Amino acid sequence: MSTLVVVGSQWGDEGKGKVTDYLAQEADVVVRSQGGNNAGHTITFDGEKFALRSIPSGIFNPNIKNVMANGMVINPKQMLEELAGLEARGIKNYQLFVSNRAHIVLPYHEALDGAYEQFKGDKKIGTTKRGIGPAYADKANRIGIRIADLVEPEQFKAALQATLPIKNMELKMLGLPEFKLDDIYNEYVEYGKKIKPFVADTSLLLEEEVEKGSKILFEGAQGVMLCLDHGTYPYVTSSSPTGASVPLNAGIAPRYINNVLGICKAYTTRVGEGPFPTELDGEIAHTIRERGHEYGTVTKRPRRVGWLDAVALNYARRISGINYLALMLFDVLSGLDTVKICYAYKLDGKIINTYPASLAELGRVEPQFIELPGWKEDITHVSSFEELPVNAQNYIRKVEELTKSEVVLFSVGPDRKQTIRLKEFFK
Ligand code: IMP
Repeated sequence: MSTLVVVGSQWGDEGKGKVTDYLAQEADVVVRSQGGNNAGHTITFDGEKFALRSIPSGIFNPNIKNVMANGMVINPKQMLEELAGLEARGIKNYQLFVSNRAHIVLPYHEALDGAYEQFKGDKKIGTTKRGIGPAYADKANRIGIRIADLVEPEQFKAALQATLPIKNMELKMLGLPEFKLDDIYNEYVEYGKKIKPFVADTSLLLEEEVEKGSKILFEGAQGVMLCLDHGTYPYVTSSSPTGASVPLNAGIAPRYINNVLGICKAYTTRVGEGPFPTELDGEIAHTIRERGHEYGTVTKRPRRVGWLDAVALNYARRISGINYLALMLFDVLSGLDTVKICYAYKLDGKIINTYPASLAELGRVEPQFIELPGWKEDITHVSSFEELPVNAQNYIRKVEELTKSEVVLFSVGPDRKQTIRLKEFFK
């Protein structure tokens, strides 16, 4: 048995898509187990750039089984558009399996996502407005609609009849137009027909793959700091992007999880609102944002930028069981005179090493930095650790020391080839 969970160890957008795509070349199965089309995984190979939203990153390789598991919330319309987009670019030969237990995102979820955000005013979460939160809320409220319903017309109609009046009441209260059952039904029943051939009991499929000894890669979406339970609540997403959530969200036994690879940028970014202790503004932030193309894949919003935060990383390591780290976008830091890493916070005069739960406290923490000499060399062509300038090597060693994790991979550019592996960790 060989399984590897890839998680974002910051606030998402760490380059999980790139790592997953790179590791997918060795995998037999790639699984997305939470979130939906709020994710945006950019993958570049052979000079072509693909932005995946809800489809797993193994889709480019015809030998890989791609699983969209029960913990996801799937927007059927968007998913089919994404597949059609891939097919139009020649990706026609793929294996895709969609869990019959996954919930679906319908137009009223998107409408409500936007309305809640507007209603919250300056307390808004800064969501992607893809209806993710409202869809998970319906799931918890037991008025969600699942793929198993969507693909059975009578069942789908009955589910809509039970749910839509409640959703329309909510929409009416928020001053929004209501949805007509027939409109949603007639459009989505057609999507259901197209999705039906992909539908499977993916929990069973994964069990069989484990028994066969397949290599299974679980591809996280978002990042640990956006976890509904452990993140910077309420400025979080509505699922858990941690390693711990994978068994539940994929329907497999916890003992099947061997290793968790945390993906982190050589610095930190965040989109949307919420605390960000090491946030930068001014010249350095601008330089990093432009060099790292730090604009949202889904929403195109400029990302907030800051120094690497080892306090947050250690927290992510602890709650997500991260044992390996992949350091991404390392080349973006080239050219700076010095680079900083936050090793602790000062809260009300006291040094702390833990991540506070209270937003008020997070607003008061003062990051404590170590400052390291930078490197001027272009590192986009290096192919080994030894080829890195000494100061860049020292940066990696410092990250390892501060996060108590082994850096097993680093990346110096968007292409698959610009990924340098320091150790075998997916056997
Ligand atoms: P939601 O997931 O659309 O509800 O958004 C909740 C929060 O998670 C917002 O701050 C979003 O910007 C953030 N978020 C959701 N998906 C991603 C992602 O894939 N990358 C980075 N941030 C994300």
